[in-house]
Order: sequence, then C-alpha cells, then structure tokens
Amino acid sequence: MKATVLAVAVLVASTQAFTFIAPMQARSVGRSSALRMADVVDTLAELQGPVLYWGSFGVSLGHEENDIKGYDNFTKFSKALADTGVAKELKSGGPYTIFAPTDNAVDDFQGELTAAIVKNHIHEGKLTLNGITDDVTTMSGKLTYGRRFRKTFLDEAKVGIISEGASCGQTYPADVAADNGIIHAINAVLEC
Ligand SMILES: *[C@@H]1O[C@H](CO)[C@@H](O)[C@H](O)[C@H]1NC(C)=O
Repeated sequence: MKATVLAVAVLVASTQAFTFIAPMQARSVGRSSALRMADVVDTLAELQGPVLYWGSFGVSLGHEENDIKGYDNFTKFSKALADTGVAKELKSGGPYTIFAPTDNAVDDFQGELTAAIVKNHIHEGKLTLNGITDDVTTMSGKLTYGRRFRKTFLDEAKVGIISEGASCGQTYPADVAADNGIIHAINAVLEC
C-alpha cells in the first residue's frame, strides 16, 4: 500500500517536472522534429515514418491519388534491433545516432538484417543532420558521405529527406531527439 502511494507521488512529481522542463528542452533542441522522453530504442519503435499515399492504384478503390494510405514506419528495423540483441546495448550509455531504414527500405533490401548490418546503422556519438559533413564510423564499419541534389547521402541512402512542398512530397524524419541519442530516417539499408 505504501509502495503504491509512493509510486503515485513519484509519478505526479515526475509529470510536473516534465511539464516544467519540456518547454525549455523544446527550445534547446531547435529544429528537432519530435521531443520524446525515452531511449533511442523505444523512441524508434513509436516513430512515425514518411507518409504513404494511395497513388494511382487507389483511384479504382475510391481514393484520391494523394489520400493518405498509412505511414512507412520503422517496425522491421526495430524488430531486427531486438532480434539481434543490439537493442539491449542501446538501452543504456550513449549518445548514439541511429540511421533507421523504413519498413519499405527493409523490404527492398530482401536480405537478412544480421547483427553486423544492424550495427552499421549506429554511430557512437551524436550527429545532427547538419553535423554530417564527412564519412561516418559505425559500430561495424564506415559510411561514405556524399552531398548530391542538396541532400545528404551515406553510402547509397538519403538521410532525413525534407519535403520541398509538393503535395505528394515525402518527409523522412531527421533530428528526432531521444534521451540517449538522435534518430534520422533513411531510405535504404546500409550494407557493410
Ligand atoms: C506508424 O506509426 C504511427 C505513430 O506511432 C501509428 O499511428 C501508425 O499506426 C503506424 N503505421 C503503421 C502502418 O504501422
């Protein structure tokens, strides 16, 4: 009983602390697309990816081409993090930078997401999207930096694509802040 009362008290206290702190943190992270109080693993599991539109296929089903069909989330890469045991490492320590392929990117890859490949998506340290200006070392290799069409590339993957206003443009989230790191969506699996 005492424990319950204490837990409630802690919960109330931490909720109040959060309410108080959140506006200051929101300012300090600047362009960050989301503020979450969770580690990188849990943040990624909850993250909404680029929007998927019905496209011309949807018209025969009664949709407009630019009706939203769903979101290309990070469920498959999150599962690979868990299955390979890499998620456990990321639950503590940090900061980490995760380059997270969307579910469609994992489908395109077709191969198996081994621990080595999963670790090739993780940099030990914090890199904002604008802070990526050179090759990036990962937990299992190195990614080659490129800048093409005013976009940041690592190997063949585009990092954090910001829509340029077209109604069907896609936005891949970047600079998503977590307690112990930062996440950028990418559109291809990074082989090593
Ligand atoms: C994608 O993530 C969002 C936010 O968590 C969720 O609302 C949505 O249902 C997810 N979509 C799919 C297809 O999993």
